[in-house]
Amino acid sequence: MRLRTLAAAGAALAAVVLGGLYAWTRPAPIAPAAGPPSPPSAAVLAAGARIVALGDCMVCHTAPDGPAYAGGLGLKTPFGIIYSTNITPDPDTGIGRWTSAAFRRALREGVARDGHLLYPAFPYIHYTRMSDEDIELAYAYLMSRPPVKVKQPANDLVFPLNFRPLLGFWNALYLRPGTGAAPAAGQVERGRYLVDTLGHCASCHSGMNLLGGERSPAFQGGTVDGWHAPALTRLAQGSAPWTRGELADYLQGGLSLAHGAAKGPMRPVTERLAGVPREDVEAMAAYLMTIQQPAPAPAAVVPVAAQAETSGAALFAAACAGCHAPAAPMMRLGGRPGLARSSAVLGDDPANFVQTVLHGIPWERPAPGGAAAAYMPPFADVLSDAQVAELAAWVRSGAGRPAWPDVAAASGKLRKEMQP
Ligand code: HEC
Ligand code: HEC
Ligand code: HEC
Repeated sequence: MRLRTLAAAGAALAAVVLGGLYAWTRPAPIAPAAGPPSPPSAAVLAAGARIVALGDCMVCHTAPDGPAYAGGLGLKTPFGIIYSTNITPDPDTGIGRWTSAAFRRALREGVARDGHLLYPAFPYIHYTRMSDEDIELAYAYLMSRPPVKVKQPANDLVFPLNFRPLLGFWNALYLRPGTGAAPAAGQVERGRYLVDTLGHCASCHSGMNLLGGERSPAFQGGTVDGWHAPALTRLAQGSAPWTRGELADYLQGGLSLAHGAAKGPMRPVTERLAGVPREDVEAMAAYLMTIQQPAPAPAAVVPVAAQAETSGAALFAAACAGCHAPAAPMMRLGGRPGLARSSAVLGDDPANFVQTVLHGIPWERPAPGGAAAAYMPPFADVLSDAQVAELAAWVRSGAGRPAWPDVAAASGKLRKEMQP
């Protein structure tokens, strides 16, 4: 009994101390705007649309089939589900009462207008280095969107992470506030800004540590929603090295005719980049080429099983060859890359192969170069986990690679994660 009382007193004391510390350090609210900002010129609007596309704001701030920028998308984190907010200019449920100073503080410091700290699922640790000018343009664009009145669901986070003041400690570890300066001149510097700041590419391609911070060194590869985001420092290695032009095509068109399609969480990124000027993706590609690491000593060639009549071969002939066999119209007429050039087949991690086969590839726009729009059906309801593994072994052997271990188990796990 006494112990319990002591523990309760201890917890109460801790709450008072933390609460006091928070009240003391909590950022001040910023007064609501007197009225809506004056409508931007067409030039400002177009420039703002470009920044918002490069920053990929829509992908997180739009729920499936919901109105653009109205939030409500649930982001799965290791700590629970965080819902994106409504960033349309609705005064009650969106950012309609936010001044541009409040908006700037949110992007630069991860603080909402009323002073509460925002979760880093919102990648402000990257946006913090946005130039003042670009933040102003994004603000002008978003404030000119149609207002939508909708409240997002409450977050579902584990204790104690539902206690926002703790984010102060996280920020002390990971937030290096930017200065608002414009990026240095030159194509590579512009590309660095677009990749590291606006594109926040590291938030998927670096992987996460136990505290939910990005691992360093950056771009060594990570996992997101059951997909593997490959290392961006090893693009020039291996049997299918990327060139700068191929990277630009892929980032903008969602398809490189030398490597394959953008799938899973990468697909919406390329859909937003489809609308930016070509010089932007070229700058990104130029910067990415500067971070490539030299290839390690070539791995010993592993003898692969002879392509005998395996059950994988039979399955492939029945389910896949109509599109992926070298003689199939998609390959011949569409000039599509063979599967053996895709990192989903060449990589060390079977996740992207399995995900592609289970989910297919919804395709919403024509492929670059006038090739016909293509789409891959999902096979989750058709193939068992064992069959996915047999197909994987067959496709890997066609690429001269040893079979991945435990594909059936990986398929079972990813299939389970698909259930909402
Ligand atoms: C990776 C997902 C993601 C991307 C990309 C993203 N956001 Fe967010 N954003 C969020 C989440 C999640 C929240 C809510 C955080 C919270 O409630 O603590 C948020 C919150 C905000 C807020 C605070 C709104 C409020 O009412 O508190 C603003 C402003 C904002 N985002 C603007 C932007 C802009 C501008 C961009 C593009 C430059 C952007 N976001 C891109 C996930 C994202
Ligand atoms: C209706 C046509 C169609 C069928 C059937 C089909 N695919 Fe696909 N698949 C596509 C398209 C389109 C892409 C995107 C790449 C492209 O456009 O070249 C793709 C991409 C892939 C990729 C990723 C390659 C990349 O672009 O990175 C893999 C792996 C794959 N398919 C495996 C399979 C397997 C295994 C089967 C059989 C179970 C199969 N596909 C059946 C059309 C198809
Ligand atoms: C939301 C997470 C996410 C973000 C943000 C993201 N990526 Fe990706 N990216 C992925 C995933 C997952 C894949 C693997 C899927 C595939 O190959 O289709 C991928 C694949 C790629 C590939 C192909 C690599 C290969 O070896 O096949 C390139 C290049 C790439 N991303 C570059 C970028 C750049 C540049 C940015 C920033 C503008 C970016 N990504 C932002 C998740 C992301």
